[in-house]
Amino acid sequence: MYRIILDTDPGIDDALALFLALSSPEIQLEAITTVTGNVDVEHTTHNALALLTLVGRTDIPVARGCREPLVGNRLHAAHVHGEHGLGQARLPQPGIQPVEQHAVDLIIEKIMGNPGEITLVAIGPLTNLALALRREPRITQAVREVVIMGGALLSPGNVTPSAEFNIYADPHAAHVVFKAGWPIRLVSLDTTNRTPFTQAQATQFTQGESAVKTCMRQMFAHYFDIYAPLYGQSDFHMHDPLCLASVFQPDLITWQPAYVEVELQGALTMGETVAYFRGEQAATPNVLASIEVDAERFIQMFIERVGST
Ligand code: BDR
Ligand code: CA
Repeated sequence: MYRIILDTDPGIDDALALFLALSSPEIQLEAITTVTGNVDVEHTTHNALALLTLVGRTDIPVARGCREPLVGNRLHAAHVHGEHGLGQARLPQPGIQPVEQHAVDLIIEKIMGNPGEITLVAIGPLTNLALALRREPRITQAVREVVIMGGALLSPGNVTPSAEFNIYADPHAAHVVFKAGWPIRLVSLDTTNRTPFTQAQATQFTQGESAVKTCMRQMFAHYFDIYAPLYGQSDFHMHDPLCLASVFQPDLITWQPAYVEVELQGALTMGETVAYFRGEQAATPNVLASIEVDAERFIQMFIERVGST
């Protein structure tokens, strides 16, 4: 059983990761913490609350997190996820409010209160994690594991040729998180870009009238409108769901130890995740990096689990 905190910026693929978490018996979702990323934290928080309302899981606490990156300006991906973050999804008004506690405090309290138990799954920019580390460095010893969707180690980025969105949106936070000396598994574009979900699969998969299927149909409609003009393809990539799946099925992915640093100086390479694989230099690896993925098995598992909701 994995007790997780999902730190997220929903976000269409974030919503898919949430649906997967909620339909996976191996996962106990302890809390959702939100962050500015794909859209502002006001919208990502609203979306998290509305998604939980949609699936009738208003028992799960949602804590609002950071509005700004540690340094510099907010970067959004509304052109990918839609103005409010979830494409054309028409969701119910949230039946719950966020908890009063800030996301950073909730992360610290949960991890420190349950030593060795909590897996922190981060599928947005890493601002909340960095501030939690600054405020309570002992979380590095108390956390079970940190599983992050972010970076591009061997392949190009998706915001710039060097940088992936979650890292580029707050590279200084990512720097703090990678330097913290806690156990990290990093699910990067190197594998998530190899998980295409096709239009045919999406159409077939969302047939039916359940609330979740209707929501996914409306979100996918947006993806299919924008992916072709933006990326020259209509398939979309299952970034955040793959990260979530790797928590409870790590063997979907081939992992390799690596030492990863974030570029914070380069005018053209800001936010690049520069990786040294074992043997290339003396630095001790600070992550287990995703290298290969069994995409077919992953997509099949996603379809079976989320398709039955
Ligand atoms: C990441 O960026 C966001 O737009 C997605 O939700 C995902 O977390 C992929 O680069
Ligand atoms: Ca995300």
